[in-house]
Amino acid sequence: MKVLVATEKPFAKVAVDGIRAIIEEHGHELLLLEKYTEKQQLLDAVADVDALIIRSDKITKDVVEAAQNLKIVVRAGAGYDNVDLAACTARNIVVMNTPGQNSNAVAELAIGMMIYMSRNHFNPGTGCELSGKTLGIQGFGNIGQLIAKKAVALGMDVLVYTNEVKEKHQRWNTIFSLEKLYSTCDFISVNIPATALTKGCVSYDLISKMPKGGCLINTARKEVICEEGLDRALSERPDLKYATDIAPVNYAELKEKYGKQIYSTPKKMGAETAEANINAGLAAANQIAAFFDTGCTKYQVNK
Ligand code: 3PG
Repeated sequence: MKVLVATEKPFAKVAVDGIRAIIEEHGHELLLLEKYTEKQQLLDAVADVDALIIRSDKITKDVVEAAQNLKIVVRAGAGYDNVDLAACTARNIVVMNTPGQNSNAVAELAIGMMIYMSRNHFNPGTGCELSGKTLGIQGFGNIGQLIAKKAVALGMDVLVYTNEVKEKHQRWNTIFSLEKLYSTCDFISVNIPATALTKGCVSYDLISKMPKGGCLINTARKEVICEEGLDRALSERPDLKYATDIAPVNYAELKEKYGKQIYSTPKKMGAETAEANINAGLAAANQIAAFFDTGCTKYQVNK
């Protein structure tokens, strides 16, 4: 089988070497399309492949149509909002993710962003400490849970908002009102997927409820934030701060208006560690090998 790794933002070389070893060990051929700049390159590269490993690469309907032999797509990572699931399902193409494999890297970045924003972007000036502050976590999957543990180690109080039954997260202080989460916490970390239900859910009403000096951290997706609401909240409340790993559509304009109140990484870097690349990349390769060897569909997201 032909397995293509198509990554506009490539994995570390050590991860690609590991992926290749697994794929070849199982008798398949590995092809690489890295740092591509035009969609046409992706359309050409998928033409005769049986399997795809991707990151945030957009697998739209036309990509699926161009990949006539495609049987499986594995998103090496958590969020699969970049894959047209309906188009894949219509062609009986299995789509999987690799949950948890890059979570620690994202959790560490979220903590780093809290410190960066609290310390005036590492510029002179009096900042504040995380210890003794309250962190609200919106979304308590793999990343949210890791952030919670790290925050506790830093001396923070943690409040969790999740739709899941309380019993599952007994050791945590869980609340079921987003309004209460935002109005209570000095820091909020958003760790939810972008879905039809969550898009724009972090609204003006929520952001503007944050206590004085509140700081919102988004390492999830830009779509979950209502950008108009964010703009309004930052303009009305010069004490509020927003740091994100996924630049808002109008980031340049917001940066111009709000200076150090806002920060975005230049390119999504939550999963940009060798460890995360290796964990997610090798998991993807193993999942593809198991799929072709035994038909295993564990982690399929379009069942
Ligand atoms: C994920 O959903 O796993 C993260 O957002 C990482 O995305 P990336 O592979 O594009 O860095």
